Order: sequence, then C-alpha cells, then structure tokens
Amino acid sequence: MDIQFGDLKLPKKGAVAVLVAEGGKLSPSALSLDKATRGALTRALGLGRFKGKKSQVAEIVAPARVDFDRILLLGVGKPAELDETAAQALGGTIQAQLAGSGSTEGAVAADALAGMKLEPAHFAAHLAYGARLRSYRFDKYRTKEKPEDKPSLKRLRVLVAGHAKARAAFEPLDRIADGVFFTRDLVSEPANVIYPESLAAQARTLAKLGVEVEVLDEKQMAKLGMGALLGVGQGSAKPPRLAIMQWHGDPGAKDKRPLAFVGKGVTFDTGGISIKPAANMEDMKWDMGGAGVVMGLMKALAGRKAKVNAVGIGGLVENMPDGNAQRPGDIVTTLSGQTIEVINTDAEGRLVLADALWYTQKRFKPRFMIDLATLTGAIIVALGMEYAGLFSNNDELAERLIASGQSIGEKVWRMPLGEEYDKIIRSDAADMKNVGDRWGGAITAAQLLQRFVNDVPWAHLDIAGVTWSSKDKPTVPKGGTAFGVRLLDGLVARYYESK
Ligand code: BES
Ligand code: MN
Ligand code: ZN
Repeated sequence: MDIQFGDLKLPKKGAVAVLVAEGGKLSPSALSLDKATRGALTRALGLGRFKGKKSQVAEIVAPARVDFDRILLLGVGKPAELDETAAQALGGTIQAQLAGSGSTEGAVAADALAGMKLEPAHFAAHLAYGARLRSYRFDKYRTKEKPEDKPSLKRLRVLVAGHAKARAAFEPLDRIADGVFFTRDLVSEPANVIYPESLAAQARTLAKLGVEVEVLDEKQMAKLGMGALLGVGQGSAKPPRLAIMQWHGDPGAKDKRPLAFVGKGVTFDTGGISIKPAANMEDMKWDMGGAGVVMGLMKALAGRKAKVNAVGIGGLVENMPDGNAQRPGDIVTTLSGQTIEVINTDAEGRLVLADALWYTQKRFKPRFMIDLATLTGAIIVALGMEYAGLFSNNDELAERLIASGQSIGEKVWRMPLGEEYDKIIRSDAADMKNVGDRWGGAITAAQLLQRFVNDVPWAHLDIAGVTWSSKDKPTVPKGGTAFGVRLLDGLVARYYESK
C-alpha cells in the first residue's frame, strides 16, 4: 500500500476518513464534510451509537451528490490524550477499515483538534506509520485468493496542514516499518525456506544499507569451540551459521564500544530427540524470532541512519532428531570452556545463546548486551501474550527497557534472577545442566544465560509469548508481530543515539 501526504482539502474520489472527538465534536474537516453532505455526519451521530469514543468507527455511504464514495467517522476519544501510540492505533484502525471496504483510494483528514498536544505534522506522521504497520500481509504463497478477498485499498493519502513537514517526520518511521516488515517476513516464512544458510543470506541483504555482514560456518565455529551451538545443530541436514551484522552509524563516537543485540535463531525446533508433541509443532518455524528481530532492528537502524554503533548477532541452527542428533545426557563444552549436561534436547535455545553471548562480549566488548529469544513456554504461562519477560543484571538498562516498552506499546515485565534459582541448574556430571525442575522455567533458563555473561550490562527478553499473535491489533495484524524491533529502536533513539 502506498502512503502519501497532501493538503487538507476534501478529495474527489475514494473513501475519506475524518476525526470526531469524544462527545461527538466534529473536526474542522468533518464539519465541512457535514456541510457538503447536507448534514449526513450529524445525522449519523444522532442515529447510532457512535459518539467519538476512542477507536469507535462508523461508516457512511456518501450521498450521490458528492464525488467520493464513503465517509469513515473515527472516534479519537479525548484529544488531550492523543499521543504517538494513539495516533498510530488510529492510523491502523483506518487502514483496517478501508482495506476491505471496496475503495481503492483512501484519504484521512488529520486535523488539529481542540486540546490536542501533538503537533499536526507529527500527529499525521504517526497516523501514517500506524496505517503502514497495519497494512502488512504475508500472502506470497496464496495463489488462489480471489481478487474480492484481497485488500482493495491501493493508496492512502494523509491530509494535513503543512504536509511537507509531516512527510519528513514520516521518513524515519517508514524506515522502522521496513525493519518491522523484514522481521515479519522472516518469522512467517516456513522452515523449508528459512533455514540457517538462507537466513544468513537474508542477513547479507543488509549490506546494501551499509551494514557490514559476516557469516561464520560450522567449521569456523568448531575451530572457535562453540560446542553448545553446534551440538544443537548436529542432528540437522542444514548446517548452522552465525550471522554478525555491524552498523557503524557513529564513527566519531567518543565511546567506540557498540551496543550489542543477540538473537536466538532456531529456524525450526522439533525438540530434537526430546521430541515435541505433534500438535502446534508448526509454530516452531518462528523459533528464530529473536534473530529475526535482531535483523529487522539492524535494518531499521541502518535505514534511518541512526547515529549509533550497533552489532547484531544471530545464532542460526535447526533442532532436529536424527542418527547424528545430540542425546539427552550428552555433555557439551561451550566457547567459554564451561560444560553443560544436556538433560533435555528441547531446551536448545539457551545452548545456542550460551555461545553467541560469550562470542559477542569477548569480540565486541559492548556497552550493553541485549538478547532476544523465544526461549520458554514457561514465560507464556507467567505473562501470557501481553508482556515479554525481561531479565537483567542492571537496573538502569532494565528501567530504560521498561520505559521504552511502555511508550512504544511493546511492554516488558521484569522477572527475578538470583542465586537460589541458579542452584537449580547445578549438575553432578558437568558445570551445569540445561534444564531445572518443573517450576520457574523461564527463570532457570535465564540463569543459564547469565552464566555466560561477564561484567557487562545485560538484558534478556523472553519473547515466546509475543512473537506471534493469533488476533489482529491496531498496528499489528495477526501473525508475526516483530515485537522487539520498535522497542529496541526506541531504546536506542531515546538513550544511546548521538544527536
Ligand atoms: N522454542 C521453545 C519455547 C517456545 C514454546 C517458544 C512455545 C514459543 C512457543 C523452547 O526451545 C523450548 O522448547 N523450551 C522448553 C524448555 C523445557 C524443555 C525446559 C519449554 O518451554 O517447554
Ligand atoms: Mn525447544
Ligand atoms: Zn526453541
């Protein structure tokens, strides 16, 4: 879908959306539309339940006298409460309403409403951003979808006073959306298409944006001594890879150390010899979601030319059962030298991250290290699908993540770490075992990760519950969410980017 900006004047064709504040107060554009239609809007307000409450919508088929085909009334609630996320949600709602309406052209009048704190251009940019985020579809394999089942909307014009300024404010947001779409594509692709080598090839496409990309193969990783990551991959016909993406956006920075983002990239998780039950196993195509987010984040940072130095690492492996697969009871030696007894081959993400984290801190000496992983079912039991689990050894980093998540709408909830939990993964045979007991499974997983983190601010995001959505949300259609891309881009922009 194409998004454009234009001046605030009523369009000649297509659908037009206008804003209504709580209590039924029409925006200036809505008022002039009401005049042009001889009161169709006030009439709709009088007849129905639509009163301009937040996210309420009402559709009116335009009277024959006017040129365009339909009017969408959009409730914004209290204008004073309209912030960036609310503007995005509004844009997403408009997009979803118009996408299947039959209209091919849409316009939304982004008027200044009395009491609104956001500047109109800023408001319009975020509205457009929300519309774009909601317009995502993964339909490349649907060869028989009928034209009438596909979205009709081809173009959305955001009308605002001073549209050049809105267009400029939209530009970086549009680049973040590119990153979000990249991640959504990667998690949506099936595992016969996305496997370690092909995912690494996707990382390589970032080179055209100026990202420096390296890929380690299994021989190089064996030479380094990444026994834990390689153990997970050894039952697969698809050899593992380590993707390393560097964005040098602030070459003159005083502090040369980069920010580091590390992702679990299990391109398919059967569980291995500790095989998973058949029901819903197809979901495990998105067990590379952490690496997918890291790649989308790098795309966003590079796309909007963020003034920051960042490195993204993806540990890419497929977890399969096979004659050569790792067995329960096997002991692997990690890159750090520590040994792990593999009690359950389905607790593979932490094995991959153990080596990826160690590699990252040793090679890059980062300012901080944040990992993302669809690591445990236990975090879904604890937090459901609303919050990602946050574990951290650093209060400042944790608080910044919580604040960024709150303001961007990708929320994280801090979970505990501590010695008592760490004891649970002690092993008689090796330095540690890869699973604890039944309880607190997300925490014991995080404890294992922490054993591979030295003296560096670190945060672990368990995104198992938020990587895939079974229902539509205002700016996130159901399917791959790319949760984490906007959160971390926002964290970087707010706290770590040079001005
Ligand atoms: N990839 C899974 C976790 C997962 C579950 C992600 C559901 C998304 C949805 C992970 O590798 C796994 O299998 N974890 C096990 C750990 C257990 C064996 C200790 C789990 O959570 O059951
Ligand atoms: Mn698993
Ligand atoms: Zn997994």
